[in-house]
Amino acid sequence: MKGKAAELRVRRASADDAAGIAAVLDRIIKGGRHSLLDTPFSEAEERVFIASLPARAFIHVAVTPADEIVGFQTVEPWSSFVTRAFDHVATMGTYVAEESRRRGVGAALAAASFAGARAAGYEKIFTDLRADNLDSLCYHLSLGFSVVGSARRHARLCGRDIDVVFIEAFL
Ligand SMILES: CC(C)(COP(=O)(O)OP(=O)(O)OC[C@H]1O[C@@H](n2cnc3c(N)ncnc32)[C@H](O)[C@@H]1OP(=O)(O)O)[C@@H](O)C(=O)NCCC(=O)NCCS
Repeated sequence: MKGKAAELRVRRASADDAAGIAAVLDRIIKGGRHSLLDTPFSEAEERVFIASLPARAFIHVAVTPADEIVGFQTVEPWSSFVTRAFDHVATMGTYVAEESRRRGVGAALAAASFAGARAAGYEKIFTDLRADNLDSLCYHLSLGFSVVGSARRHARLCGRDIDVVFIEAFL
């Protein structure tokens, strides 16, 4: 990691990280510019979410030496349909606190998550992003994702219809 981020480390999250994860996510959701999520999670809700993650799902957090969470990345099975057809496909969400961006936090999270995803038997990651989120598009392209396509007026956020871009990366 570059600069100050060199002091950060990436580790697997547990339910005890709920407060730190919710704090990062809350600011991004309330910022209203980047995420497809529209409803903030309380610490209690985040704790339940982490505790009830399915098998083969995990979260990595990037933490300071004082164990303060500055970013996190979720990896989950892409589909929970009643079929094994998508067992090799994961989906991923990445959230880095504004003051910690462009320091390699997202890249470090992805290095850990890609390795974890391979170890869990996934072969590709498929995810989506707002078409107006160029930060996220650039980040994912830098990780080797390619654009699969886009869906028009797919997300309705704060009364605005937004196109959604679908991307994939083979591990
Ligand atoms: C997208 C996001 C996760 C990137 O995290 P980050 O820690 O800033 O990413 P990194 O510093 O590891 O960047 C890695 C590479 O991605 C690309 N990149 C990341 N952010 C970029 C930006 N804003 N503009 C252009 N390229 C960018 C660059 O190639 C960068 O390498 P470089 O800094 O050596 O040029 C972060 O901006 C974020 O959390 N945004 C808000 C939430 C969000 O949009 N999440 C994704 C939802 S789909």
